[in-house]
Amino acid sequence: MSIAIYPGSFDPPTNGHMDIIRRASEIFDGLYVACMINLRKTSMFTVDERVEMLKRMSADCRNVSVVSSETLLADFAGKLGADVIVKGLRAMSDFEMEFQMALLNRKMNPKLDTLFLTTGESFQYLSSSLVKEIGSLGGDIRDFVPECVYDDIVRKLGVRR
Ligand code: PNS
Repeated sequence: MSIAIYPGSFDPPTNGHMDIIRRASEIFDGLYVACMINLRKTSMFTVDERVEMLKRMSADCRNVSVVSSETLLADFAGKLGADVIVKGLRAMSDFEMEFQMALLNRKMNPKLDTLFLTTGESFQYLSSSLVKEIGSLGGDIRDFVPECVYDDIVRKLGVRR
């Protein structure tokens, strides 16, 4: 059984994340989508809100489970029995940090490899932070996030208008 983990802060989840979830779920027998802490970012959505949105988005992917953790990814992946970390790569600007994290994760857990999926070409420009910025300033984010979580995101961003 090949089990992978797709970690992220998903604050909020976007169509780009959904694209990676679908493609990774077709490659592996089981996929954990893991809502994790990124100490370099401040989150707007609570972990429970993000997990709930991710569950709704991936409800039709039968081999996907949504989980969350405030621990190290290298430890959490080991506990779940995952031996591959899946990450989406948008542009070269993502690469340096992702490369560093992949090496550190394998150093901490030598059984853990990182597989990068190039993002779908229509999602190259998408990021959670820009979705938050556009939505908070009253822009239309309908094309950027899955329909089933659109209302949740707009409601949360609306608080900031
Ligand atoms: O979506 P993001 O914010 O780019 O995801 C980054 C994330 C959450 C995957 C990364 O910060 C992470 O792995 N956090 C868990 C804590 C951890 O293991 N940190 C050390 C990474 S080498």
